[in-house]
Amino acid sequence: MSREHIGHGDIVRFAQERVNLPKEKADEYRNQAAGLRDRLESYLKEHPDFTLKKMLLSGSLAKGTALRSLNDIDVTCYISGADAPSDIRALLEYLAERLRSAYPNFKPEQVKPQTYSVTVSFLGSGLDVDVVPILYDGDPDWFGNLVSQENGSLLKTNIPYHLAFIRKRKTSQVTDFAQVARLVKFWVRNEKQKNEQFRFKSFMVELVLAHLSDQGMDLSDYPEALQHVFTYIAKSNMQQRIVFEDYYKASAVGAFTEPVQIIDPVNEKNNAGKLYTVAHADAIVNAALDAGDAIDAAWSAPTKQETIRYWQKVFGPTFQA
Ligand SMILES: Nc1ncnc2c1ncn2[C@@H]1O[C@H](COP(=O)(O)OP(=O)(O)OP(=O)(O)O)[C@@H](O)[C@H]1O
Ligand SMILES: [Mg+2]
Repeated sequence: MSREHIGHGDIVRFAQERVNLPKEKADEYRNQAAGLRDRLESYLKEHPDFTLKKMLLSGSLAKGTALRSLNDIDVTCYISGADAPSDIRALLEYLAERLRSAYPNFKPEQVKPQTYSVTVSFLGSGLDVDVVPILYDGDPDWFGNLVSQENGSLLKTNIPYHLAFIRKRKTSQVTDFAQVARLVKFWVRNEKQKNEQFRFKSFMVELVLAHLSDQGMDLSDYPEALQHVFTYIAKSNMQQRIVFEDYYKASAVGAFTEPVQIIDPVNEKNNAGKLYTVAHADAIVNAALDAGDAIDAAWSAPTKQETIRYWQKVFGPTFQA
């Protein structure tokens, strides 16, 4: 393998300059979410029967896997299930109305129900906060029914356990797990720009990577790690079941009929890949084959310019070295 033109260090630099959300931005957005959470906590002290029970930063900002292109701050809001409407539109109206009462400083139009979440927009700087409801019956471990952002269905899951699950993999391969996750997400983003049918949800990317990491894949050399991830995707055809044993035994997982089976690490009945068809899986596999070929070609390209051109097949035209 020739690393003459582009090596690990070049990918590190590319990641820092183009892929990763800069730390100051991440801190700023986390503070924004913390402000909302703190305000809800003090409101709850004065109104203990209030039905919004907790807010938790939940997406890539919480996991440390956010891309520079981040466009909203994901927060889950635990809603006491007893008197919350079950109809999704009514539930979102209900959530918006409760948020408006907890945050009287916001103008009503700053709190807007969307299809499967409620956005809270800040005037001036900052990003919108996307508040995703989770119906909650008081479980001490914070299990609840999350409103799927894909189709509005209810998924029994546990956000704090998801965060702990990812944290465990980040601890076993410090810096590298999160960095390779962001690089693969950046590849996905580039594929989506070329083909709007392409889908490969961040949560699934992270679970695939967690599976490989648990099997002993070393992620410390980024060109090699990417090559290994693409090879796994191509070989598995995205149709190899992935199961984790952090929170239940593999034997507890029942039969699924969907082609893509990446089972939620905290709920053995929830297949995170359930909405993916064979066509979706094939598109991921074909893109991974192309990306793997491009990295191979980059390794043997005679000039730097050509090497860059091959890496641009993986990461798009912003790849420069
Ligand atoms: N199918 C699912 N089943 C259970 N929980 C899910 C599912 N999809 C998403 N989640 C929860 O929502 C969180 C955020 O979703 P996801 O990982 O796809 O977005 P993200 O990390 O914010 O990435 P992006 O950078 O694309 O916004 C996940 O970490 C997980 O806790
Ligand atoms: Mg997100």
